[in-house]
Amino acid sequence: MQKNPLNGKVALVTGAARRVGAEISRLLHDAGMNIVLHYNASEEEAVSLCEELNKKRHHSAMIVQAELQGLESQKALVQQAHKAWNRLDALVNNASRFYRTSYDEVTDYAWDDLMNSNLKAPFFISLAAAPLLAEHHGCIVNITDINAERPLKEYSIYCVSKGGLIVMTKVLAKELGPKIRVNAVSPGSVMWPEGENKLSDEEKQSIIEHTSLRKSGDPKDIANAVLFLVRDAEYMTGQILNVDGGSLLF
Ligand SMILES: NC(=O)c1ccc[n+]([C@@H]2O[C@H](COP(=O)([O-])OP(=O)(O)OC[C@H]3O[C@@H](n4cnc5c(N)ncnc54)[C@H](OP(=O)(O)O)[C@@H]3O)[C@@H](O)[C@H]2O)c1
Repeated sequence: MQKNPLNGKVALVTGAARRVGAEISRLLHDAGMNIVLHYNASEEEAVSLCEELNKKRHHSAMIVQAELQGLESQKALVQQAHKAWNRLDALVNNASRFYRTSYDEVTDYAWDDLMNSNLKAPFFISLAAAPLLAEHHGCIVNITDINAERPLKEYSIYCVSKGGLIVMTKVLAKELGPKIRVNAVSPGSVMWPEGENKLSDEEKQSIIEHTSLRKSGDPKDIANAVLFLVRDAEYMTGQILNVDGGSLLF
C-alpha cells in the first residue's frame, strides 16, 4: 500500500479555533497531519478542538495562544509550533480581522489594526517560518478574499489588506522558491459574518443570487482547496484559487 504523503507532517494554522480555520485544521488532520492550532481570544473553542483531534489520534494536535500584531509574538508562535514535533511542513495564514471602515470615517487605528492582522502578520510569520519550511520542501497557504479583486463597499481597509495578501503570495512564491511553494485560497461567502457585521436576510439572498451556483459555500470548500494546495499541488506556486461559486463572474 502507498504511504500517505502527509502522515507525521506538521501544519500551523492561524486563527484555527473556530469557523473556517477549525474546518481547515480538521481536514488537514484527517489527511494525516499533526496540527498546531493557533488562537487568540477563542481559548475554549481551541481547547475543545484540540481534544477532538487528539481523541482521533494521540498527540496529534496542540494549541498556541498569540495576539499576532507584534514581531515577538509572531516569532514565538513559529518557534513553539516547530518545537512541538521538531518540524514544520505547512503554514496556513488564516487569521484575519473583518469589519466595516466607511471610507469617510476611517481611523488610523483601524488601518493599523486591519493591516497588521491581515497583511503584516502573515508576512512576518511566513518569513519566520521560511527556514523551517525549507528543510522539508514545505508550503504556505494564505487565505485571502474575492473582495480583494472586487472590493466590498464600506470595507475599504479590509479589502486593501486582502489585496496586499494576494500580492504577497506572488512575491513570496518568487522569493522562497524553489524550496517553498506559496499559494492562496480566495473564498467567496462560505460563512456569514457575525456580530456587528451580521447581514440581513435580503443581503444574504443578494449574495447568493450573485453566484453562478446560486448558493453560499461551506468552510469545507475552503478546507478542500487548502488540502489540495498542501498535498497535491506540487507544481503550483504563486497561484490564487478562487472558491466562490462563480461569484467573481458577476
Ligand atoms: N467567512 C467567509 O465567508 C470568508 C469570506 C472570504 C474570506 N474569508 C477569509 O477566510 C479566513 C477565515 O474566515 P473566518 O470568517 O473563519 O474568519 P474570522 O472568524 O473573521 O477570524 C478568524 C480568526 O482570526 C483570529 N484573529 C484575527 N485577528 C487576529 C490577531 N490580530 N491576532 C491573532 N488572531 C487573530 C481570531 O482568533 P480568536 O477568535 O482566537 O481571537 C478569529 O477567530 C479569513 O482570512 C477571512 O478573511 C472568509
